[in-house]
Amino acid sequence: MKLFRRKPIATILKEGGDGEHSSGLNKVLTVKDLTFFGIAAILGAGSFSSLGSAVFNGGPGVIFLFVIVAIACAFTAFCYSEFASRIPVAGSAYTYAYSSFGELFAWIIGWALIMEYSIGNIYVAYSWSDYFTSLLGQCGVQMPEYLCTSYMEASKAFKGNVQGEALTAWNTATEIGGLKIILDLPAIIINLVITYLVYKGVKESKNFSNLMVWIKMFVVGLIIIVGGFLIFKNDLFGNWTPDNSVGIPSFMPNGFSGVMMAVSGVFFAYIGFDAVSVMAEESKNPQRDLPRGMIYSLVICTVVYILLTLVLTGAANYKAFEGIGDPLAFIFEKENLNLPWMHFLVAICAVVAMTSVMLVFQMGQPRIWMTMSRDGLMPKRFSTIHPKYKTPSYSTLITGLVVGVPLLFTDKTFVLDFTSIGTLFAFVLVCGGVLLIPRREKEAGKFHLPYINAKFVFPALVVISILLVVSFVPDFFSNTFDFEGDKMATNLPMVVFFVLIVVMMVLSYLKNLSLIPLLGLISCCYLLTGMAVSNWMWFGVWLVIGLVIYFSFSYKNSRLNVEPAE
Ligand code: ALA
Repeated sequence: MKLFRRKPIATILKEGGDGEHSSGLNKVLTVKDLTFFGIAAILGAGSFSSLGSAVFNGGPGVIFLFVIVAIACAFTAFCYSEFASRIPVAGSAYTYAYSSFGELFAWIIGWALIMEYSIGNIYVAYSWSDYFTSLLGQCGVQMPEYLCTSYMEASKAFKGNVQGEALTAWNTATEIGGLKIILDLPAIIINLVITYLVYKGVKESKNFSNLMVWIKMFVVGLIIIVGGFLIFKNDLFGNWTPDNSVGIPSFMPNGFSGVMMAVSGVFFAYIGFDAVSVMAEESKNPQRDLPRGMIYSLVICTVVYILLTLVLTGAANYKAFEGIGDPLAFIFEKENLNLPWMHFLVAICAVVAMTSVMLVFQMGQPRIWMTMSRDGLMPKRFSTIHPKYKTPSYSTLITGLVVGVPLLFTDKTFVLDFTSIGTLFAFVLVCGGVLLIPRREKEAGKFHLPYINAKFVFPALVVISILLVVSFVPDFFSNTFDFEGDKMATNLPMVVFFVLIVVMMVLSYLKNLSLIPLLGLISCCYLLTGMAVSNWMWFGVWLVIGLVIYFSFSYKNSRLNVEPAE
C-alpha cells in the first residue's frame, strides 16, 4: 500500500537524520549534558505559568496528576529511546515514523508536532509577557492593560462579566471602526525577537543552555526553600487542606475530577523531554545515554513540580490562583508571603527561562519542516537554506508567522488545550508505533526496550486498577456511565477509553504485545480523556486539514514516488 510506504533507514543515514544534526558532528555530549538539555526544554512556562490554573482547578492534590503524567511520559520516553537506538541518527518522531510505520503516519505525526512546537510557543510567549509586564510594573512602568492582554481573553471577560485586568483592557481600549484595539504586545515582540535570532542562526550552545538550566534550577530551588520556610514560619499548613464544596477540609477540594481538569497544564509542563532525542548524533554514546538523559530530566522535573505545587498551595489558598499568569511571583506579593525581592528575582528568572524554551522550540519547528520538505511532503521552499546565515530561512519565517498571527486572536487557555492534545496524540502514535515494529535481539551497548509479555500482565493490571478505583472513588463508574442530560458529552471520552482497554486486552492476548509501549499508549490515551469535547472538535478539524494537504500535495510530491521505498 503506497500510503504506508517507508523511507529506508539507509537513505535516512545518508542524509544525516533530521537535517539539523548532520553526520560528522562532534560526539561530545554526556549523560549530564543530555539531562541538562532535557531540563532546558522542559522547565518553562508550564511551571512558571500554567501551574497557576492547574492548582486553581485541582488544589494541592494536583501533585497526584504530576505523578500520573510523569509515568505516562516515562513510558513514552522509553519508546522514543527504542526508536533512537534502532535508527542511529538524530531525528524527531517524524523521522522515526517514516522509516518504521510509513508515510501517512509520519505525515500525521509531523502535522501534530506543529502543535507541540509552534502552538506550544504561543503559550510560552503569552506567559513570557505575563512575567515581563509584572517585571515592568515592579520597575514602576505600567503598561496599559489593552496592550498586554489578548483580544480573546478580554472579550471573554466582557461576555462573562469577569472582573479583573482583562475586563479593564476591554473597557479602556480604543476603538477603530468598531474594532477594539486589544493585543498582547510583549508576546508579539518576543516572538519577533526570537524569530530574528533563529533566522540569523543563533546557536544555543551547550554552555549557554547549561547556564540557563543553572539559573532556572537556582531560582526554583530558592522558591522552594524560601517559600517552604515561610509556610512553616507563618503556620500556613491549613492551605493544604482547604474546604471542599460541602465545607470539609480536603487535599483535593474539587475531587479527582477537579484534578483532571488540570491535565492540559500539567502535561504541558512535561513537554520537551522528547527534544533530547534530536541530540543523538552529538552524544558520545546515544544508545545508552539518550534514554538516561530523558528519564533523569523527567525525574528531576517531577520532583521540582511536586515541591513547587506544595509551596504554591501552602503559600496561598488554591482559589487565589484564579486567572494568575505568574503564580511563582504571585506568592511573594504583598497579600501573600510579602517578599518584594523574591518577587523581582522570580520575574527576571522567568523571563530568561522562557526565552530559552522559546529558542529550543522555535529552532526545532523549521528543522522538522525542512526535513519534510526534503522528503517532498512540504513545498520545496521550506528547505531553502539562507546563503549567508545557513539557516532554514523560509521555514523560520513561516514558524514566526504561525506563532505570531494566532497571538492576535487566541488566548492562553485555548492554545494550552490545543498544544497538549496535539502532543499527546503524537505520543500515542509513537507508543503505538513501537507496538507495531517487530521485536529484535538485544545488542551489547545499545538501549533495548525490555520485552515483557502483556498477555496476562495487562489484564491483571486492569483488574487491579479497577479495584483501586472502586475502593477510592466508589461512584466513579456510576458517574462515568451516566448519560443523562449533558453528561453524555462529558463522559464519552472515558467510555471510548474503556472500549480501547477491552480491545487492547484482546490484542495483548492474541498477539503477545509488549507491555511498556502498551502502557505508554494506554496512559497517554487516559490523559486524552481529560480533554474537553470542544478541544477534540478543534483538533479533529486540524487533522482533517492536515489530511487534505497530504492527499492533495504531499502524496503526489513525495520523493518516494521516484526513489526506492520499503
Ligand atoms: N514544558 C515546556 C514549558 O513548560 C514546554 O515551557
